[in-house]
Amino acid sequence: MKYKKRKYFLAGRINMIQRSKIRELFEMASKMKDVISLGIGEPDFDTPQNIKEAAKRAIDEGYTHYTPNAGIPEFRDAIAEYYKKFYGVEVPDDHVIVTAGAYEATYLAFEALLEDGDEVIIPDPAFVSYMEDAKLAEAKPVRLPLREENGFQPDPDELLELVSKRTRVIVMNYPNNPTGATLDEEVARAVADIAEDYNIYILSDEPYEHFLYDGAKHQPMVKYAPYNTILANSFSKTFAMTGWRLGFTIAPEEIIRDMIKLHAYILGNVTSFIQIAGIEALRAKESWEAVEKMRRTYEERRNLVLQHLREMPHISAFEPKGAFYIFANIRDTGMKSEEFAKWLLQEAGVVVIPGTAFGKQGEGYVRISYATKRELLIEAMERMKKALESL
Ligand SMILES: Cc1ncc(COP(=O)(O)O)c(C=O)c1O
Repeated sequence: MKYKKRKYFLAGRINMIQRSKIRELFEMASKMKDVISLGIGEPDFDTPQNIKEAAKRAIDEGYTHYTPNAGIPEFRDAIAEYYKKFYGVEVPDDHVIVTAGAYEATYLAFEALLEDGDEVIIPDPAFVSYMEDAKLAEAKPVRLPLREENGFQPDPDELLELVSKRTRVIVMNYPNNPTGATLDEEVARAVADIAEDYNIYILSDEPYEHFLYDGAKHQPMVKYAPYNTILANSFSKTFAMTGWRLGFTIAPEEIIRDMIKLHAYILGNVTSFIQIAGIEALRAKESWEAVEKMRRTYEERRNLVLQHLREMPHISAFEPKGAFYIFANIRDTGMKSEEFAKWLLQEAGVVVIPGTAFGKQGEGYVRISYATKRELLIEAMERMKKALESL
């Protein structure tokens, strides 16, 4: 059959979503040989073996049918138990919903909480999906600048100034993508106070909570604003399970109920045997040993990249204490972020992400991911150094 081009009718909504601005960069890279990508945002480790075995066993044991929409009760239990164990936070089981990763969790939260004209405070720079989620919910994004001099944490006074009668949600994401920043307890408390005083929800996206360095501690927002926090979390980074699509949300019961309504029609439930593997991930000693091993490896790589960056001219790096990203300041090169990323690809065959992909405040920065093997990181750093020295 010959394919005939025809006009399709599409909802205007779909045109609101912006495809990634960095596609052009990746397209350029795909046509080149010998490129090292420091652009990726996913662990290069394999999922721990005990979790893989649990999924295989679950298939054999017949976990191949629908589950309750909110998730298998034992899994919801295991999630609640995990919050108690790690953070001393009591979470009733019916405040938990199992989602297809943090992506689905944030989407559900935006759709359930926001409508036309409502305002959502989104940090700048920030992970890209919040802006697109806001547009789909027809909400108005209000950007909160994050500055290097504040350790890329929100300034509570500035946040307060952005709060209006229409503010419904404040987005938080620590440890942070793209900056690698972590949150100080006093800032967490200040944001929680603002949220409680003005009855605003905090959507706290915390998928990097276990990747912390130099003794940094995670500050789960649900601990500071238990009645105002909607937590989005994920197994993707913690257990190197990006392809499994497993995450969860913790929120007040009334909100969870509404999120479940939507989730029931989008997904029904997260894959049954994957939920069983999730129980294993949370409860087995082996999985946590694997997480600690990955954390130590990331820390070594972070130190390695920072050390190399310090030896390069025209670039300076904010020292991150979390996630697996370094947000490096390239203003001294005289180039804009996108220009720099293209130049580096051409000169050195190294992919980094322009900071502007995460918001206007990212101008003058690039994001370097160190979720890459040590040898490749060293090679990439040597190439970068040579290119920068030639400027
Ligand atoms: C901050 C942040 N939130 C959410 C996600 C989406 O993760 P998931 O695989 O859990 O959907 C990512 C993935 O890169 C992320 O960096």
